[in-house]
Amino acid sequence: MKLSVFRTAAEAARAAAHVIALRLRDDPYTVLGLPTGRTSIRVYDELARLHGAGGADFSKAHTFNLDEFLGLSVADRGSFRRFMEKHLLTRVNLPRDQVHFLNGRAADLEKECLRFELAIADAGGIDVLLLGVGANGHIGFNEPGASLFARTHRARLRPETRRTNAALFGGRATAVPREALSMGMATILAARSIVLIATGRAKSRPVASLVTGRVSTSWPVSFLQLHPDVRVMLDQAATTRLHLPDSLAH
Ligand code: GLP
Repeated sequence: MKLSVFRTAAEAARAAAHVIALRLRDDPYTVLGLPTGRTSIRVYDELARLHGAGGADFSKAHTFNLDEFLGLSVADRGSFRRFMEKHLLTRVNLPRDQVHFLNGRAADLEKECLRFELAIADAGGIDVLLLGVGANGHIGFNEPGASLFARTHRARLRPETRRTNAALFGGRATAVPREALSMGMATILAARSIVLIATGRAKSRPVASLVTGRVSTSWPVSFLQLHPDVRVMLDQAATTRLHLPDSLAH
């Protein structure tokens, strides 16, 4: 695991965006896995800026989003599909038939999860998976619990997760769907490389679990310790529970 600590959240986001842009320059056919959440907005802003400046070409890339709420489509304001349209897809040259989402309104949800896994395999697997992390340690919608799902599945959201996603629903946690579809832990760990960004004090606990904690289903993010190629972009506020050498600071 390679840790980088930046002074501000904006700098951490820029660094994460640059990893993706460089990767696209090396291999335009890169398959990206993408998250939603406030932290990712800054990364998408920077990718849009780089694209505008000729520094990020998405024309051959494929993307797979980590998760989607159950029952919502792009027409719904709170859907992750809508989030991605707003923050990235309308701002870069990513052909829509190369953008892959879980359909939270599919008639047969089990079939939908399988379809998504097969689509990832068909694309050759995920090359670079960008991740955020929930304050409770979730990645995608793999919530803490006694057990975790390996593959794409139907997930029940914890109350704190519904609260932190309330901003997408006019600030009302009760309006946040109770369930979602999400890549599973094995889907995530099968990505060839992972870039995780965590900023702000609220992320200091999951960051400690990621870096020094025991691998435990109580902190799904801790499973990333088992992956051979993880880069972690942090701001200083997210490192308050770590004891890091100064040499890591950017
Ligand atoms: C949601 C997403 C996660 C994301 C998390 C962090 O719950 N399902 O993939 O990592 O939000 O959100 P934020 O960046 O707003 O803290």
